[in-house]
Amino acid sequence: MKTIGIIGLGPMGQRYVNAVQSMEEIRIAVADVRSDAVKKIEDFHLKQEVSIYSNHLDMLQNERVDILIIATNGPSHYPLFLDAMKYGVKKVICEKPIAISISQAKDMVNKSKAEGMLLAVNHGRRWSKDYVALRDKLRNEVIGPVESVMFSMGGGQLGCNGTHFIDLVSFLLDQKVVQVCGFLNDENIPNPRGAQFKDPGGYAIFHLSSGTRMFFEMTDDLGIPPLLIINGKYGRIIINELKRSYTIEAREKQDQELSVTRYGTPLKLMEECNLELDIITLSRDLVMSLLRDEIPANPLHAVEALEVVIGIHFSHETGNKMIELPLTDKEYSNKMFSFT
Ligand SMILES: NC(=O)c1ccc[n+]([C@@H]2O[C@H](COP(=O)([O-])OP(=O)(O)OC[C@H]3O[C@@H](n4cnc5c(N)ncnc54)[C@H](O)[C@@H]3O)[C@@H](O)[C@H]2O)c1
Repeated sequence: MKTIGIIGLGPMGQRYVNAVQSMEEIRIAVADVRSDAVKKIEDFHLKQEVSIYSNHLDMLQNERVDILIIATNGPSHYPLFLDAMKYGVKKVICEKPIAISISQAKDMVNKSKAEGMLLAVNHGRRWSKDYVALRDKLRNEVIGPVESVMFSMGGGQLGCNGTHFIDLVSFLLDQKVVQVCGFLNDENIPNPRGAQFKDPGGYAIFHLSSGTRMFFEMTDDLGIPPLLIINGKYGRIIINELKRSYTIEAREKQDQELSVTRYGTPLKLMEECNLELDIITLSRDLVMSLLRDEIPANPLHAVEALEVVIGIHFSHETGNKMIELPLTDKEYSNKMFSFT
């Protein structure tokens, strides 16, 4: 019998309950500081044994937690991780963004390594079978060498949502962001999760490690869902997550050798593919991996995604300077944000 502890029973914590509720040989312990939130566990009518706590320390003291899931907001991720370490928890799933400063995030990765703890961050697109298949197609140059990426989405919240899509592009292209020039929207824009959080939107230009350029916007003046376009030398991939699909358009074989100046050469619809993306399924897959003593992705990728968002902030605050990543500025690496 394994015990899965979940801290934070907001919408994301509840998704985890949903994800583990059909698993056998599992006990569940939940902790939330809000009594109305922790009561949500009753709505599940679980068959498994459940323990409920209003304080995570009581949970860690009373339970032998095998996997701890940190499903609270960004500012509590690091302190809760440290408590998990103190109580000897050996497997931790942390929600994104991994932390609210680069030094916190790096410390989590270093400490987990040093103590032999498995640490996973839920950037679930990395283990979505459809995104894995798309990454393989890109490796096979289905649209030729990738030269640019365009991403557009509304709703702001670069730390909360931007980290997901920055990480997705790194994953799909096997590249890191190495330079960022960023512009932020109004920092005092109200955050949907409460006034204690600040996580403005913005836009940026990124340069990736193999020379690909990326135009990225996640602004507070748009109310539109994500659209990701990957441009290759002779084709493009258009990813529309809300429609659960992506299309691959490319020049026909005989046209692929034509010069790029023949930009009017038509693209043929090569493939229209399904994109299954269910957070509960991806979260279940993540828990299953940890039960097998595996992590599906290196947590360093989550540090890198956070660093890009913080790079946008740094660029914005320094006159939109092009910032080199990883950041070397000590003060800025220690700077804490209040992303959710
Ligand atoms: N991976 C994904 O696809 C995905 C999707 C949605 C949200 N998230 C992430 O999940 C996290 C939670 O999101 P949410 O929408 O549930 O947020 P939320 O604000 O609605 O809920 C967070 C819950 O955590 C509780 N909490 C906060 N600090 C606590 C503490 N120290 N101890 C115990 N409980 C505490 C709060 O009382 C609240 O009930 C965020 O980091 C968010 O970015 C990830």
